[in-house]
Amino acid sequence: VKKIAVLTSGGDSQGMNAAVRAVVRSGLYHGLEVFAVQRGYAGLLNDDIREMDLRSVGDIIQRGGTILQTARCKEFVTPEGQQLAADNLRKRGIDGLVVIGGDGSYQGANKLSKLGIKTMGLPGTIDNDIPFTDFTIGFDTAVSIVVDAINKLRDTMSSHERSSIVEVMGRHCGDIALYAGLASGAETILVPEVPYDLDEIANRMTENFSQGKRHSIIIVAEGVGKGEDISAEIMKRNGIEPRVTVLGHIQRGGTPTHNDRILASSLGDFAVRRLIAGDSGKACGMIKGELVATDIDTVVNTKKQFNMELYELTKRLSQ
Ligand code: F6P
Repeated sequence: VKKIAVLTSGGDSQGMNAAVRAVVRSGLYHGLEVFAVQRGYAGLLNDDIREMDLRSVGDIIQRGGTILQTARCKEFVTPEGQQLAADNLRKRGIDGLVVIGGDGSYQGANKLSKLGIKTMGLPGTIDNDIPFTDFTIGFDTAVSIVVDAINKLRDTMSSHERSSIVEVMGRHCGDIALYAGLASGAETILVPEVPYDLDEIANRMTENFSQGKRHSIIIVAEGVGKGEDISAEIMKRNGIEPRVTVLGHIQRGGTPTHNDRILASSLGDFAVRRLIAGDSGKACGMIKGELVATDIDTVVNTKKQFNMELYELTKRLSQ
């Protein structure tokens, strides 16, 4: 490849900018011409593409969001849309594309690769729901935000001897709830991957309070349902009304942690080197510290394995 482009797509995540910076700087370092597409696949259809230089990605490694902006684009899903996107790249001589995003974005990259554009996917999502990588870019920061929020909630919940429900993002994946729950010492973690028993949760809460516990924190992954509904169910069973906090999009903002910046930088550079080596249709990840490139087809057709060991640990420690 001689000319490559980079775009961000789907929900944004902290560290996307660090990944864009890595793709641009690594591409230029290796003598490529590098372009950026604005607003994800929508920008490919509208031909919203500009050339990047070293300074175009200055002062962004520490910023949340994405300077390239992002969109969920319906037109791109059709074969005609995909052909137009490939044609717009080709008419500029761009033959390589790095797509930073989640599951849906990977499907788009896969389609373009089948139309002859060499594509690489980078896992940019707070959800950590992409297989063949231990972590996705943004997950570490999102978990830190949740942990920080729970620290604050603990203060006020302890003062009032209250129970608190914290509803977190993650779509169908319970990882944000699991990791934040373990790190913050939550009593109960509800994730879509593991069945739960509300009677047992309500009884344990009553018992804990009667034995002198001063607060009770329940984390509910959004894939399980609404925090408000869980609160009402608990209230029905034991008469205690947990106060509900929905953290929402706060989890997607703010400066990325050093872990996310390092992951994004390593993966961005790796994607460029794979393109130069002639690779295409791959999703980049890091597994146990090793950079890996896996067929996007395999990645989009595999469900991320839930870490049951960590889940059991949270149960042992939250007595
Ligand atoms: O995929 C990231 C994510 O924040 C999910 O956790 C959440 O379900 C979804 O995006 C929210 O989407 P939107 O920003 O479109 O409301």
